Amino acid sequence: MENSLPKPHGGKLVNRILRQSRREKILDEVNEIPKIVVDKETSNDLRNITEGVFSPLEGFMEQEDYLRVVHEGRLTNGTPWTIPIVLDAPKIIRSYISEDDDVLLTEKTGQAIALLHVSEIYSFDKKDTASYVFGTTDNAHPGVTKTLNMEDLLLGGKIDLIGNTQNHFENYHLNPIETRKLFEKRKWKAIAGFQTRNVPHLGHEYIQKTALTFVDGIFINPIIGRKKKGDFKDEVILSTYKVLIDKYFPEERIILGILQTKMRYAGPKEAIFHAIIRKNFGCTHFIVGRDHAGTNNFYDPYAAQDIFTEYSDLGIIPLFFPSVFFCNTCKTITNDKACPHGQKCHQEFSGTQMREAIRNGDMDNVSLRPEVANILKTWKNPLV
Ligand code: ADX
Repeated sequence: MENSLPKPHGGKLVNRILRQSRREKILDEVNEIPKIVVDKETSNDLRNITEGVFSPLEGFMEQEDYLRVVHEGRLTNGTPWTIPIVLDAPKIIRSYISEDDDVLLTEKTGQAIALLHVSEIYSFDKKDTASYVFGTTDNAHPGVTKTLNMEDLLLGGKIDLIGNTQNHFENYHLNPIETRKLFEKRKWKAIAGFQTRNVPHLGHEYIQKTALTFVDGIFINPIIGRKKKGDFKDEVILSTYKVLIDKYFPEERIILGILQTKMRYAGPKEAIFHAIIRKNFGCTHFIVGRDHAGTNNFYDPYAAQDIFTEYSDLGIIPLFFPSVFFCNTCKTITNDKACPHGQKCHQEFSGTQMREAIRNGDMDNVSLRPEVANILKTWKNPLV
């Protein structure tokens, strides 16, 4: 049967995981190689690059790609890409690392993870980056603060994975080869990817089930990784999704797999990035609702949908959802396009509302499934 899944972004799935024999040879020689210690988030992205989740990237961006991505939302060859994937390091590294060197990237524990073939070391304008990627230079934006606090240099170059990056969420980790195999095994032709950083409320479920009416399956793909204070802990997101799917979804139409990367909170730019990743996993469609990947009203609620008009060549179909809420007059969950009753009748679903309810210990009003609310109640503090 002909494979109907979309081609990976840029044409082919990147695989830069070195074979065991090559790994062993490199690890024998590590004492002679300069080292850089990377944090957990970078380590996660190393795995994303080498497993093809970030195809067509084969490493950290060189300056030309970096500038094009920041300013134009495309790689130098024109391929859509909106979020810089870079490795920053302090100026001191110039005293022991040069272009064309191989550098060993290790975790804090000393565990070797990847080999970086440094092709470029360059400086960059942090404020300019923040202003283009996040649309603001306001310090109150978590992505802006993070960018302004980066080290002064960026190292570009391809990487090869040589170490073990597995962790305690491994049971839910699927790489693009595995998701594509699963989709094909289930004979799914239309698959909608669902991004989330939250515990599921009834609004999320409504969106997923509405999408499911038109596609063969949903790939629920929560972000597991660094989030801002006040967001939900990774373990809480996963355990609530497990009970929700178990009790309220047709099992054969859902695949739950995690995306291990940090939230950037870049609204529209991140929506494109999120869609590209799900295309690499093999999804044909990608769900974008209200204020996708937004934070604290930094973005127009529909900016993350509008940006798709600039990317007709993306290769994955966005499924746009208007604002979803419970209407007291309709007495059902509905949405902005379908309900005539105006805001005074609407009970919004929002992360802010859920967090507020958790703080007050009053979770009966927040439109969660009882099984989900019960899990939240077992946590002294379910938030980051
Ligand atoms: S996000 O940062 O990952 O976007 P969240 O997990 O809350 O946050 O949202 C997951 C997806 O559901 C996003 O596409 C978001 O736009 C959509 N969504 C969440 N709540 C609503 C809502 N009340 N109405 C419409 N879309 C929503």
